[in-house]
Amino acid sequence: MQRVNLTDATNENQEIEYSFNPAAPLAAGNFGSVFEGKNTTTDDIVAVKRIHITEVEVKKAFEKENLIMSKLLGGTNIVQIQASKAEYHHTIRDTQYAYIAMTFGTQGDLKKFIGNVINGNLKFLSMEKEMQLPIMWGMANGLAYMHSLNIIHRDLKPQNIMIMLNKQGIPVPLIGDFGHSEIDTQDEHLTMLVGNIQYAAPEQLSAFHSRTLEKRKAKPYSKAGDVYSSAVIFWELLELGKEAYTLSITTKPPLSTNEFVEAVVGNEHRKPFREPIPAGTNPRLATLIEKAWAPERTNRPTADEMSKELYKILHPKTREEKFEETFKKAETSVVANSDVTIFKRRQAQLVKTSTQQTSADVIYRRQVQIKK
Ligand SMILES: Nc1ncnc2c1ncn2[C@@H]1O[C@H](COP(=O)(O)OP(=O)(O)OP(=O)(O)O)[C@@H](O)[C@H]1O
Ligand SMILES: [Mg+2]
Repeated sequence: MQRVNLTDATNENQEIEYSFNPAAPLAAGNFGSVFEGKNTTTDDIVAVKRIHITEVEVKKAFEKENLIMSKLLGGTNIVQIQASKAEYHHTIRDTQYAYIAMTFGTQGDLKKFIGNVINGNLKFLSMEKEMQLPIMWGMANGLAYMHSLNIIHRDLKPQNIMIMLNKQGIPVPLIGDFGHSEIDTQDEHLTMLVGNIQYAAPEQLSAFHSRTLEKRKAKPYSKAGDVYSSAVIFWELLELGKEAYTLSITTKPPLSTNEFVEAVVGNEHRKPFREPIPAGTNPRLATLIEKAWAPERTNRPTADEMSKELYKILHPKTREEKFEETFKKAETSVVANSDVTIFKRRQAQLVKTSTQQTSADVIYRRQVQIKK
């Protein structure tokens, strides 16, 4: 076990000690690893992201991520920073690390979570009401909060959404990984392509693609780009286990990156390609997704509009005149606090009764078909 003393994100004079096992990362990437850790005083479980500072650019990126996470303190459906620190040593040869301790997504990221739903480790009575819509609503809610502070994420994808379960066993998504986030200055300077092209909006792709660049003015990242990425993730939630664009586009025959970009962006001869929304999808939800991945960014809803519409789809009986009040209440009662005991008991019950339940749940059946 390794122990580190980090500076409390809400009080710079306060240090908090955490421990984690450096030999057992939850995930490891180019610059960093993420570990399950523990506050050694309270025993609270946290995620500890350790960034290996190899050059000054990485250090700057850490500082930016740290700053953005501090600005997002208090936001619902956002991974909350607890403490952080960068260790700088005197000689270059010493390993330099920066750390961020934050809310632990007990179910891992959304990609892993979807994997667990597909393989039957997690079960829901109604996929739409208990799994897909709550995740979509929570994501839109978190995004609306970021956007209200003029922060754009720029790298929304399932691997960057962490999942917890609330006391009812309903998933609560938390937007995380602010490594590419920026303050939205709207001055058209954010044109460099970051993040994964599968989730990138056409205006971002055309900035990167030279042939389309001639025809369209390169557009910067904007809030509307995050809305587009969310729509692609929503599609993946409906089509459990499929990744957007990999099946439809890359199989017949596989497309090069440039061809992929042209398909998504479209041209005079070809409409921009979007995945077909699966049959049986709630029509209101289908309409929302179509709008959210509209080719023209000005036609997309804002994250706030998306969040309110998703709430209405989830609770169709909400009275219009009471909407604001009900919505606010729901927003504040999102319990980003998993209760592992209740969850386990509930999962055990669901596994036992799932044979009778499956026939009643269309989406669940589709998921079983994918498994076969
Ligand atoms: N708070 C958390 N709770 C649970 N798991 C986490 C948490 N943060 C990160 N992880 C896991 O670690 C992975 C990598 O974390 P993160 O996305 O923050 O860093 P990264 O991908 O290395 O950063 P970058 O995208 O800048 O390369 C996530 O995809 C997720 O699986
Ligand atoms: Mg990531």
